[in-house]
Amino acid sequence: MSLVIKGGRVIDPVNRVDKVMDLRIEKGRITRIGRGLSADKVLYASGLWVVPGLIDIHVHLREPGFEYKETIETGSHAAAAGGFAAIACMPNTNPVNDTGSVTDFIVTQARKSALVHVFPVGALSRGQKGETLAEIGDMAERGAVALSDDGKPVMNAELMRRGMEYARTFGLPVISHCEDMNLAAEGVMHEGEVSTRLGLPGIPSASEEVMVERDILLSELTGAALHIAHVSCKGSVDRIREAKKRGISVTAEVTPHHLTLTHESLASYDTNLKVNPPLRSEADRQALIEGLLDGTIDAVASDHAPHNIAEKETEFENAVFGMIGLETSLSLMLRLVHEGILTPSQLIERMSSGPAGILRIRDWDLREGAPANVTLIHPGMVFNVDADRFRSRSRNTPFNGWELKGKAVCTVVSGKVVFEDKHWKTSGKG
Ligand code: DOR
Repeated sequence: MSLVIKGGRVIDPVNRVDKVMDLRIEKGRITRIGRGLSADKVLYASGLWVVPGLIDIHVHLREPGFEYKETIETGSHAAAAGGFAAIACMPNTNPVNDTGSVTDFIVTQARKSALVHVFPVGALSRGQKGETLAEIGDMAERGAVALSDDGKPVMNAELMRRGMEYARTFGLPVISHCEDMNLAAEGVMHEGEVSTRLGLPGIPSASEEVMVERDILLSELTGAALHIAHVSCKGSVDRIREAKKRGISVTAEVTPHHLTLTHESLASYDTNLKVNPPLRSEADRQALIEGLLDGTIDAVASDHAPHNIAEKETEFENAVFGMIGLETSLSLMLRLVHEGILTPSQLIERMSSGPAGILRIRDWDLREGAPANVTLIHPGMVFNVDADRFRSRSRNTPFNGWELKGKAVCTVVSGKVVFEDKHWKTSGKG
């Protein structure tokens, strides 16, 4: 069966396209791009953006081990509803994804139950304990696309060096959760005037910056591709910018929540705002926006971190770190487009080809012959965030009740429509 996406504004940053056109899809691939195309099924896309499938390279799917928070299946449904055609899942499951057999389980489970492409990230150290290396070769062979101990830093610099050397041999990037645990200590929010006012222990920006600098040095030493996860402060942006200028193989991502909120919002003591790294100052937020604009930051990634109610409905100090993001990420990011800060093409680049480049996912563009991974975005649709309607198994978002503008209305994965917003009727017979 053929499918045509008709009359949408095709935005493809890779091929520098921004034009109203039709896109025909057959047997999982884009077969024609042009005008006046017909097919068995039509998605009417007038007024919509038609863009390469969005990719979120930082997602916690919680399976195996914590299926009460999220499964590969439920996480993939949340991803599809958020406009994501592909996600990469972090290894802090139980068991940790530190062997070929766990990687294999995730790949197999995703093939059985996921709506979108799922790329597993293997742990760098066994059990994420930071003591010995994980089974890097086996994981690479079974489909791991990167190595990371995300959720925890690799405190031992010598182990990080060896992990980078292995990663380089297998052609994998190392994703670093930059946090000096001794400096972060028992902190629960950004260390600054707000933490003092609220009487909560702080996490200084330096705890991130020292590790960013260390890992840049180790990338320089080993030649490994380094990717800095969830950059949260100005000092990190400055260091990454400078390292890129020197030709170091470093990339970076930022979350929608660090671009939207600051530590001031914690005055509400809403535990859904407790994330690691913490929400920082307005100056940091501005520096993150600047970094995203000038290309110092290559990608937007949600750090979708599902937790159940009991783990959040407790005193701020005792609550777990993390918020979900798959179903709000795009709409939050569209704010920067509506405010005239990012162009649509810049945003789409940071949410599709940018992340694809980091994980070396090939053929991620809208071109005749390319695999048909496509997202349709309504840039002006009012989206009232209602966590009870989320596909995710968890509800831990601070954005519940927010009114946002713009959202994904249809997601196509390998030529198959995996999500259609019921408020936006696109389908018809062609
Ligand atoms: O807030 C966070 N939650 N940060 C992390 O690094 C890990 C994540 C989680 O797994 O819950």
